[in-house]
Amino acid sequence: MTAEKAILTLGDKKIELPVIRGTEGDVAVDVSRLYEEHRILTYDPSLGSTAVCQSKITFINGEEGILRYRGIPIEQFVTKTPNFIEVAYLLIKEKLPTMTELLEFRTLLENNELLHENLRYQFRNIPAGAPPMAQLSAMLSNLACFHRDLLVLDNDEEFLQVAARLISKIRTIAASSYRRSKGLPYIYPDPNLRYCANFLHMMFSIPYKQYEISPAVEDALNLILILHADHEQNCSTATVRTVGSARANLFASCAAGVSALWGPLHGGANVEVMEMLKGIHDGGLSPEDCIRMAKDKQNPFRLFGFGHRIYKNYDPRAKILRDASDKVFSQLKMKERDPLLDIARKLEELALKDPYFVERKLYPNVDFYSGILLRAMHIPTNMFTVMFAIGRLPGWIAQWKELHDTPNSKIMRPRQIYVGTPKTDYIPREKR
Ligand code: SDX
Repeated sequence: MTAEKAILTLGDKKIELPVIRGTEGDVAVDVSRLYEEHRILTYDPSLGSTAVCQSKITFINGEEGILRYRGIPIEQFVTKTPNFIEVAYLLIKEKLPTMTELLEFRTLLENNELLHENLRYQFRNIPAGAPPMAQLSAMLSNLACFHRDLLVLDNDEEFLQVAARLISKIRTIAASSYRRSKGLPYIYPDPNLRYCANFLHMMFSIPYKQYEISPAVEDALNLILILHADHEQNCSTATVRTVGSARANLFASCAAGVSALWGPLHGGANVEVMEMLKGIHDGGLSPEDCIRMAKDKQNPFRLFGFGHRIYKNYDPRAKILRDASDKVFSQLKMKERDPLLDIARKLEELALKDPYFVERKLYPNVDFYSGILLRAMHIPTNMFTVMFAIGRLPGWIAQWKELHDTPNSKIMRPRQIYVGTPKTDYIPREKR
């Protein structure tokens, strides 16, 4: 069967280009040799029409609102007891773990949950109001100072060791930054607790009084982390791949991913959503005001938690979080519904009826409802994006490894179209 070709016609040139088709019908024209062979570039500033890799990890169909991890629909992870560590294993090891493999992975995480005491002491020198994402990025990068033997990975065993250190310690780092911000004593991880329960323990226990872990909160946290675990080549994952393509170590690559995720157009949106909902609740704004401002091109206000580069339908994660909220609230025996949930529902209802949003296919994304659940768990708003990072970390690690294992993978080095000043001469200072 002859290989499928596309023809590029430019002037009197006709250039044949290979065509690549994905498992689910994605089709791409391979232009990887276009510049080398024809000195022609393609132009796609935000890479919206550009595939930078072939990946087996996650599949999204934005038109139909489909998200699958290693082929498994996201909805199938929403079980009675969702298990984030099982999903992390699936993403990183390319298969669901057997019970033995899951227990071994849990033990590996348990053995790597402590921070080196010198790293822990560094929190004491951080100003109390320091942004948690700044601390997280710094501390992930700092892990490279304490695991120098794992900066260059010679085999899959060493890779798994680094993956376990990152996935386990990110919780300890996040909880430490929270405790520091509250002037509370540091709580050591408890090896007898499961992943999410241990994080909640480190966040909320006080000396000699263990935090009462509600199974509903533990399940809700597992669910939230699962829904954030990977999402193809989003901004932060593309950052991790770019840094990793230079053969930078996994600690540095994930630290860079944290920095990209911090942006309010990306993972930082979950904080903006909460501020927006609180603004409405505290009376400063009405849902109608938000819709009006979001449509006003003169106004920089955006309806945070709405819209997506890929989903032009309801983000399946937002749907799961919206539907989970009521269940979690009742399981938490919350005396009253969180009024912010009703405000969010009102905003969604207004937007989904408004031609401005309908025409632009702007639907709620993962950030629109996640904060309401995190708030129900007493996670502070300024840590919402940190929670996103804890969830996304296994995805970053899996994507970094996939790039690392790609034969002949090259350093990411986009080109440009130069539109600046043509050749000119230096003007000596006395003549300017
Ligand atoms: C995440 O990529 C991923 O997968 C990301 C993520 C992941 O899991 O990694 O899913 C996580 O980052 C979710 C997105 C979180 N961000 C927000 O909620 C911020 C608010 N949303 C927008 O800023 C925006 O929708 C983006 C950034 C998410 C997507 O931007 P696009 O696709 O580039 O859309 P655009 O900027 O080209 O906008 C198209 C039109 C514009 O209007 P016109 O110029 O056509 O008149 O839609 C408008 C935009 O002004 N628009 C919005 C809007 N989002 C887009 N108008 C008001 N409010 C919004 N939220």
